[in-house]
Amino acid sequence: MSKILITGATSGIGEALVHKYLKQGHNVIACGRNTEKLAQLTNHANSSQLSTLAFDITNTDDTEQAIAQVEQVDIIILNAGDCQYIDDAIGFDNKLFQHIINTNLIAIGHLLHFLLPKVSKHGQVVLVSSSVTIVPLPRAEAYGASKAGLDYLANSLRIDLAKNNIGVTLVHPGFVATPLTDKNTFDMPFKITSEDAAKRIYAGVAARKSYLHFPKRFTYLLKLIAMLPNPLWQRLVARSIR
Ligand SMILES: NC(=O)c1ccc[n+]([C@@H]2O[C@H](COP(=O)([O-])OP(=O)(O)OC[C@H]3O[C@@H](n4cnc5c(N)ncnc54)[C@H](OP(=O)(O)O)[C@@H]3O)[C@@H](O)[C@H]2O)c1
Repeated sequence: MSKILITGATSGIGEALVHKYLKQGHNVIACGRNTEKLAQLTNHANSSQLSTLAFDITNTDDTEQAIAQVEQVDIIILNAGDCQYIDDAIGFDNKLFQHIINTNLIAIGHLLHFLLPKVSKHGQVVLVSSSVTIVPLPRAEAYGASKAGLDYLANSLRIDLAKNNIGVTLVHPGFVATPLTDKNTFDMPFKITSEDAAKRIYAGVAARKSYLHFPKRFTYLLKLIAMLPNPLWQRLVARSIR
């Protein structure tokens, strides 16, 4: 049985992943800020199978202290993230931009710094990005930029970690029903449940795939749109999101 560390384990995709890995008999270290939610997870699980770590991934000192308690891990799933939109491009919200880049990208650098030396040989790093990086969407300047950075990080890290036999899996989910998307007011085509997303991530990670994207009917459509000439895809995206 493997030991899996999951960030963003208190909600949505991360929480569903915790349940999936526990159900398959693995040991899980569930991370998040919400201590009540972490306690709930503990109450529902076999105590020898689940441990929790409460820390804010944007606080480097807290992250270092929390990760110091971790011994060896086989798989790290860096899933915690936040999505907020730039509603007014002219009044560009620099604070929001900084917050999103910090949470979705800079914090990942700190987590990798503290965690990578603890990942076992033949272990795996899983980075949860987003299908938003396939085609840029309006209002997603901050979120999209953070996830595009994460894509590059994953693809570059994979090359460097190959000599350590550590795999890197980049994940591009489409829309998944979670508290993060509950606040969206636009149509979210082909939205899937967090359980379905967890099932797909679990299977892809077990197969040591380097890239996962789902649901395919949505991500292939995005990939097709991305191949169109710039003015065409931009008009299409603007019209479909309105
Ligand atoms: N839902 C989608 O449609 C979708 C699509 C593509 C990609 N994704 C990505 O999938 C990942 C999970 O999203 P989700 O939809 O499951 O979101 P969610 O339900 O809002 O969960 C977000 C998780 O991230 C944790 N988190 C956020 N900021 C944190 C911080 N500063 N420190 C520590 N933990 C923090 C939260 O934990 P606490 O509240 O306990 O801090 C929570 O467990 C994100 O990276 C998101 O960008 C989601």
